[in-house]
Amino acid sequence: MSLNHDKSDKLFSRALNVIPGGIYGHVAPVAGLPTHLPKYIQNASGCRFNDVDGNEWIDFMCGFGAILHGYSHPEIDAFANEQRLKGSIFNQPSPVMVELAESLTNKIDFADWTVFAKNGSDLTTWAIRVAREHTQRPYVIKAKGSYHGVDAWCDPGFGGRVDEDRSKILEFPWNDLECLKTLLKSYANQVSSIILTPYHHAAFAPSIMPTETFWSEVEQVCQKNGIILILDDVRVGGRLHDGGSHRYFNFTPDLSVYSKALGNGYAISACTGKDFLRNASKEVFLTGSCWNDAVAMSAALKSLEISHEFNVAESILAKGKYFSQGMCAIAKKNNLPLNMSGPFSMPYPCFEGDESLFRIQKFCEIAAGKGLYFHPHHNWFISNAHSIADLDLAIDLADQAMCELVDLENS
Ligand SMILES: Cc1ncc(COP(=O)(O)O)c(C=O)c1O
Repeated sequence: MSLNHDKSDKLFSRALNVIPGGIYGHVAPVAGLPTHLPKYIQNASGCRFNDVDGNEWIDFMCGFGAILHGYSHPEIDAFANEQRLKGSIFNQPSPVMVELAESLTNKIDFADWTVFAKNGSDLTTWAIRVAREHTQRPYVIKAKGSYHGVDAWCDPGFGGRVDEDRSKILEFPWNDLECLKTLLKSYANQVSSIILTPYHHAAFAPSIMPTETFWSEVEQVCQKNGIILILDDVRVGGRLHDGGSHRYFNFTPDLSVYSKALGNGYAISACTGKDFLRNASKEVFLTGSCWNDAVAMSAALKSLEISHEFNVAESILAKGKYFSQGMCAIAKKNNLPLNMSGPFSMPYPCFEGDESLFRIQKFCEIAAGKGLYFHPHHNWFISNAHSIADLDLAIDLADQAMCELVDLENS
């Protein structure tokens, strides 16, 4: 049985009049958000939220990764509110910017400096320009199907683009080092950077972890060819290792970009880099009217402190393992071939052989009727607010949903 979405649907009808498409981007109903999920959310706390129709959900998307410690985290909110009372945007940055840059530069082992913006896209795009400025080379290599933001060089849409937007972007399939090396031969001395996520987390497909030698080989080819290695840690940052995902996979990038979990729901992004890129970074114009937001910076400072104090990356990996194993056990009991790919703190669920995704969609739809916010074609996120009791409840409800799915398929 699906939950009541009357108010959500009415708001969406109003939105259609005044907002193109009503809701856009990755949460647009037309683009990907399943229609059984609520379109508007009223409030959230911990790992739960209430939609505008008064339904309570156990959440497994965490604001698509922006929430690491749980929604409305009391300590983070209190710290941010202290700054809010002093002000947020001024003519000049506030002292918290220096503190946050020091904190990140200390935390990220290879980093000698940090800059800030609002979104991941702001700084993935800036980072490739810094690499171009330093190397004075035009080409950028990325993995096929990887998402790095909304800008024309990498966005997954087609609208408003011209061929030149991508004419200097080269792609290779994730983990295919032979293809990467062939590209480097064909474009010798023309490649400025390789930009990669820590592992491959494309939407609509299971996540792919790096092979054992992937990162060391990428690191080597970058060093050998004078190419800047950019780690896009926007989605994963904070969820594998407290000091950045490169520590988890044991390699060293030249630049790394963070956002999502950094501010635990307050909009902020950061790029950290090695000293030799400091001059190039000063040459690439970087600014935004609200980028010096002292409230978001305060939230990020507190969030980093909590991550460190409570070893949050390890904690959510352990909770995610408990959850994934529980989900696989109930799937086995129900004779469903569930596969939870990717790291435990960000599992991507799929049923083997379900190429059309119809089966996982149906499962998520039935689960939604029980108040589980499961996304059928995007990786899920575990936050540190998910308790074992929350996970047990979710597994129990998911078990009921699987039983119903099997009954439906056999009827
Ligand atoms: C890996 C990765 N890079 C960059 C971005 C873009 O970040 P933002 O949406 O904050 O611009 C995202 C967003 O989902 C992402 O997952």
